[in-house]
This record gives sequence, structure tokens and C-alpha cells, in this order.
Amino acid sequence: MKRVLHIAHITDVHMRPEYDAPNRFRKCMEEIKKHKVDFFLNGGDTIFAADYGNITRERVNEQWAIWKKLRTELNAYEVHSCLGNHDMWWAAPDKQDTMYGKDHVVKQLSIPNRYYSFDKQGWHFVILDSNNKNAGALDDDQRKWLEEGLAKLQAGTPVICFSHYPILAVCTILEGGNHTDSKYISELFYKHKDKKITCLSGHIHLQDEAEYNGVQYFCNGALSVFWWEEGDKESAGKSYYKQTPPGYAIIDLFEDGSVTNQYIAHGF
Ligand SMILES: [Fe+2]
Repeated sequence: MKRVLHIAHITDVHMRPEYDAPNRFRKCMEEIKKHKVDFFLNGGDTIFAADYGNITRERVNEQWAIWKKLRTELNAYEVHSCLGNHDMWWAAPDKQDTMYGKDHVVKQLSIPNRYYSFDKQGWHFVILDSNNKNAGALDDDQRKWLEEGLAKLQAGTPVICFSHYPILAVCTILEGGNHTDSKYISELFYKHKDKKITCLSGHIHLQDEAEYNGVQYFCNGALSVFWWEEGDKESAGKSYYKQTPPGYAIIDLFEDGSVTNQYIAHGF
């Protein structure tokens, strides 16, 4: 079977100045470059955290400045990002502040909108914004956009559906954090069972795979996994979150719409 795309999926980078995170990220990128990937998918929580009530403007800027420097070092690659729950600065002094909320994150990530789609080599990519009321959910506008977008696709079109929160997962049974509207989304996918849909996510910092009604769901751990820290008594190894090591996924997309997903521990 002919491979048509070779992608790196990084998620939950949680970039921060502490723990030598920028240099450890660089080492990981050098490793990923050896895979000669076509482009990157970046699954949100790109910065450590902007969402808590005590986060200052300076701290938000410091985190994005590191990310943007690192991003220039990846200039040879397209990086298609989605929004994570920790990326938004809700504690801005007012809603008119240019750094408040999602618009600022969209700009920092250089993405066209909080949700968007694109096509490559016959594959349709849908990038979702899960950060809505009832965390891990689509808002009404986005539901309509997703329904219309899927309806436009020809039968047999392979689709990657990319989100921060998992739409369906195994690890969320243990940890919580699943999309709260997965009943709606999985029923929508079933209406489109003539397409070949695969979902990719992060958020939980655990790696798993699930399959339901012919749709595959990969939750791909986290690049930072224990937020670049050493770990705790539940960590199965240094910097692990529970049993998941820090890592990234290398994903192959094939001509027939099939997908292979390999989670690789980076050890940095
Ligand atoms: Fe995260």
C-alpha cells in the first residue's frame, strides 16, 4: 500500500522557561527531523499555562516568545496547530484586551481561525476547537461548520479529525477529560461512514488507541508529558505521566485511507 503522507503529531508541548524545556524540545525536534516528516500537527497546550487566574501578562508573553523562537527553528515545516485549554489568557484585565482569549492564541499559532480545515494529497484535515462550554465540546457554530464540511466530501474521502480533547478514548475512563459531546460527534461520524475518518488528540497526557464504528481514535500522550518536570510517585519512569513517557507520534497515511500511528518516547 502506497504511503501518501508522513506526519509528526506533537501535543501538549507546554512550553515554559523552566526545566531547560526549550533545549529539550530542540533535541526532540532534531530526532523528529530524522523521520523526514512532511509536516507537523501540534495538538494544543502549546504553552505551559495562561489560563489560571493569577497569570500575568508578562508570564503569558514570556511563554509565547519562547514558542515563537522555537517555531522559527522549524521554518522548513508547516505546523498546523489547534487550541488547548491552557493556551488562552482569560485573566486579561478586560475582554477588549488584545491578549484576551482565543483570538490572541490564533495569532500566536499563526492559524487561520480557532477551527479550520485543509486538504493534502487527497486527505481532508479538520482542525477543531474543543475549548467551549462543557469543556471538550463543540459550540453550535462549529457543529454546523463540521456537518457542512463533512457533507461536501465525496464518499471514500479519508479524513483526519484533529482536536485537543479526545473525542473518544480509553484513558479518559481513568482520567476524565473526554469530549462531553462525543455522542453527538460519533453519531455524526456514523452518518458519514462512507468516509474514512481517523481522530487524533492529546490533553490527557496518556497514550491510547480506540476504535468505534470503524473510526480510529489515537490519543497521543504529550511531548512534555509531566510538564517537563521529574514526575511523581505514580510516574512509571522519569518524567512519565503515569505509564506514558514523554513522546510524539509518527503517523503514516496511506492511499486507501488507512493510518498507522506510532508513539515514540523521546527521553529528553
Ligand atoms: Fe496538557
